[in-house]
Amino acid sequence: MSAPTAYLPITDRPIRWGLLAAGKIAHALAQAVQASEGGQVVAVAARESVRAAEFARAHDIPGFYGSYEELATDPEVDVVYISTTNPYHAEQAVRCLQAGKHVLVEKPIALTVADAERIVQTARDTGRFAMEAMWTRCQPLVRDLVDRVRAGQIGQVRSFHAAFTVPIEYDASHRIFDLANGGGALLDIGVYPVTLAHLLLGHPTDVQVLGAAAPTGADARTALQWMTAEGAVAQVICDSQSHGSSRTVVRGSEGWIEVHGPVAEPESFTVHRGTDPDEGEHVTGDRRGFVHQVEEVHRCLREGLLESPLVPHADTVAIMTILESARRELGVRYPQEPEPLHR
Ligand SMILES: NC(=O)c1ccc[n+]([C@@H]2O[C@H](COP(=O)([O-])OP(=O)(O)OC[C@H]3O[C@@H](n4cnc5c(N)ncnc54)[C@H](OP(=O)(O)O)[C@@H]3O)[C@@H](O)[C@H]2O)c1
Repeated sequence: MSAPTAYLPITDRPIRWGLLAAGKIAHALAQAVQASEGGQVVAVAARESVRAAEFARAHDIPGFYGSYEELATDPEVDVVYISTTNPYHAEQAVRCLQAGKHVLVEKPIALTVADAERIVQTARDTGRFAMEAMWTRCQPLVRDLVDRVRAGQIGQVRSFHAAFTVPIEYDASHRIFDLANGGGALLDIGVYPVTLAHLLLGHPTDVQVLGAAAPTGADARTALQWMTAEGAVAQVICDSQSHGSSRTVVRGSEGWIEVHGPVAEPESFTVHRGTDPDEGEHVTGDRRGFVHQVEEVHRCLREGLLESPLVPHADTVAIMTILESARRELGVRYPQEPEPLHR
């Protein structure tokens, strides 16, 4: 295979975004680009042009299309944000990369490890930038948390616990309960605490999983635990059907850190050293939601990078392997997956 052709870094003008799909989360990304340094949304595409036009009007976007293909081949677009439902991410990311676009792909990057690898390989082959929209990793507060843990502020990491729950009323046609539309709590919700555990503890040597399914067969709640080669243990709970939000603690040989607020976008954290729970350093950080990931994409495109050091391809694929092995352990299979399940 030939080496990737590096693209010319975009240094002298705004980064031009195209939005592929006009669903709920696309509104947040459009606002984030508008609030960012050096970006603009130049076009949006939806399956129906009426909806694309409506979205374009709402966000003052000059171009709109009634097909994704027109967006992928629009010469005015530098980077495409893909926010269709999960089963379509891989096919659309590959298509956009092959059409010469850079891509930011909503989480989970794909339904399966094989599809995540396909996106990464296509980015390499085409010499284009690809990143999973794992916005948590781009937040200054999370980067600070990871830096402190890696610098040994709580000694050696021994354990991690996080729960992330979202109370979604059961409806078989809601995308989170619909297997044909990539449903399941693990991929939608579990990806956040699993990402944080992976950032702080590293990859597992062993994974154990328990879980329950919704009537559609999609995983509704899961308890996942793992062990690393260094002997640290992680426990993660995700649930699409309960209240309680988020609770995250990382414990070490010389202290512990409590992370406050949702695991996807923490509000602050407290570093405790020693044994007194009332003594601690309370840490806050700049909290601008999706803007941080948008600006990370800008930074990468201005430097000519193929991947972001904050969301490396290897981590995206590694986290997909954890989610996929847990899902398969629960016996959840997407209709799009080829048989046999195990590679
Ligand atoms: N980062 C975050 O915090 C966050 C939060 C929520 C969701 N997400 C991710 O964002 C993605 C979209 O979520 P959402 O909440 O925006 O969902 P949504 O409102 O249902 O929008 C999904 C879009 O997918 C498109 N689509 C294409 N083919 C489809 C098909 N066959 N069936 C249904 N939809 C189809 C539709 O685009 P058209 O507009 O072209 O019709 C629809 O607008 C998911 O991957 C999800 O995991 C991320």
